[in-house]
Amino acid sequence: MGDQRLDARAGVVLEGPGSVVAVALREHLVAFFEEHHKLLETEALQLILSDPLPLALSRELLARSAEGSPFVTREMVEAVLAERRAPAPRAPASVAGLAPNANVPRPAEPFALVNEGFTGPPVASLPIAAFGALFQSRYRALARMLRGRPELPNLRPIRELRANEGTASVIGMVVSVRETPQRHHLIVSVDDESGSLDALVPKDSLGARSPFLSDEVVGLRLTFGKEPGKIPRVAHVERPDVPSTRPLGRSATPRRAIFLSDLHVGSRSFLTESWAYLIEFLRGRGPFPELAASIDYVVIAGDLVDGIGVYPRQERDLAIPDVVEQYTEVGRRLAEMPDRLTIVAIPGNHDAVSPAEPQPALPANLALLLPPNVHALANPSTFALSGVVVEAYHGRSFDDLIPAIPKASYSRPTEVMRRMLEMRHLAPIYGDRTPLAPLPRDGLVIDPAPDILVTGHAHTYGVDRYRNVLLLNASTWQAETEYQRMRNITPVPARAAVVDLANLGLVTLDFSGGRPTFGGGEP
Ligand SMILES: [Fe+2]
Repeated sequence: MGDQRLDARAGVVLEGPGSVVAVALREHLVAFFEEHHKLLETEALQLILSDPLPLALSRELLARSAEGSPFVTREMVEAVLAERRAPAPRAPASVAGLAPNANVPRPAEPFALVNEGFTGPPVASLPIAAFGALFQSRYRALARMLRGRPELPNLRPIRELRANEGTASVIGMVVSVRETPQRHHLIVSVDDESGSLDALVPKDSLGARSPFLSDEVVGLRLTFGKEPGKIPRVAHVERPDVPSTRPLGRSATPRRAIFLSDLHVGSRSFLTESWAYLIEFLRGRGPFPELAASIDYVVIAGDLVDGIGVYPRQERDLAIPDVVEQYTEVGRRLAEMPDRLTIVAIPGNHDAVSPAEPQPALPANLALLLPPNVHALANPSTFALSGVVVEAYHGRSFDDLIPAIPKASYSRPTEVMRRMLEMRHLAPIYGDRTPLAPLPRDGLVIDPAPDILVTGHAHTYGVDRYRNVLLLNASTWQAETEYQRMRNITPVPARAAVVDLANLGLVTLDFSGGRPTFGGGEP
């Protein structure tokens, strides 16, 4: 449950009953119950606060006392806690009437969080030290993937390289690349933890074909010439990449997940009608009710709301100018989906969390506005749906990677996603348009290799496959904005990707004209 994730975070920072966070949580819980016309007894509140999952417990209490007294008492809290300790009975099927397909027997929903990119800020570090730790973490995580490969013989720290070795290999983080003035070869500069190195990449070699990106980690096989003082040549470039053979995650039964992104609720250009048809479809009232009934999961790759103050004069584009009301509206719209669905949502650059990546999950006061079947996770996050490992990343780094990668464009975002997998990193470039958070662990490293990599942000739609990974740039639910017109970006909105988790077969449903039509894939 999203609550449990939030609770886990609250548990980490809750250092004592008088701490700032504890006070905020107490006030938040009181407000939460008041909003639902319940008065919380002091002893009940203390008991809730002492529970490791106070937010989940509050929801349970609220559900339990829905038609009872206006009070939440200590006894009521104790009763819920006692029930939690008892062996859990098998969950009954959804209540009839809530969804047309509620009578379909379902297995328990095996959502499992693998890891969240956001790990909490460093403790009292100077920025330069904090960024140093971040890059060290990146280097070590990616070097671990490269070490031991036969393509990188005689692997050495840079400081231990000797010019008379003939062939040796290093693992380095790219600092810069420049072209030689006459022959247009490349000179790549890399760092490791021992030193720096310049190496020459011949212009027509395989290594020169795929451009080096700042701050990516690569393995270089080097050959040293006999002439003293000459820099080594790069004979081979090895990237971390996805192993060509690895165990694949597949569901034992044909359960499905639907992938959405960039809802931008609160914007005047939110596609209300397309959304209404999406809800009808999910509730089994539209075409393809059997397909709808086989969907267990909804994944939303960020930008749940349009936000406020994200770009100059955004207020002109807003139907809901208050960010809390925008999330209330998202909560209402997600609650329209059948409540048997497990919904996983990460934030994007329009959401009300820090823009630096990795981004934390939505704060508790906003996550509580979403229905209880929503897992509000960090951006990025890795999780398993019926055994299929999904890496979900909003995609802000497209803004840096698209200009840096030939053939990449907002209309072909999967080119960038393929490169992310080769680098095993979602946003390597530091100091450009994607702000990076100096966290002690680089949560933007792609580890483990996923079965599905899903992004959004581009407001287009793209599907591709690379080394048994399904690349999916999920579509937006916002029409073209003036800003996009200005930047010559043509959105491809209101497409929903429905993926069979047993074999990763994909069907595209196109809601852009209202009632859904097959937009590709097998019916
Ligand atoms: Fe967006």
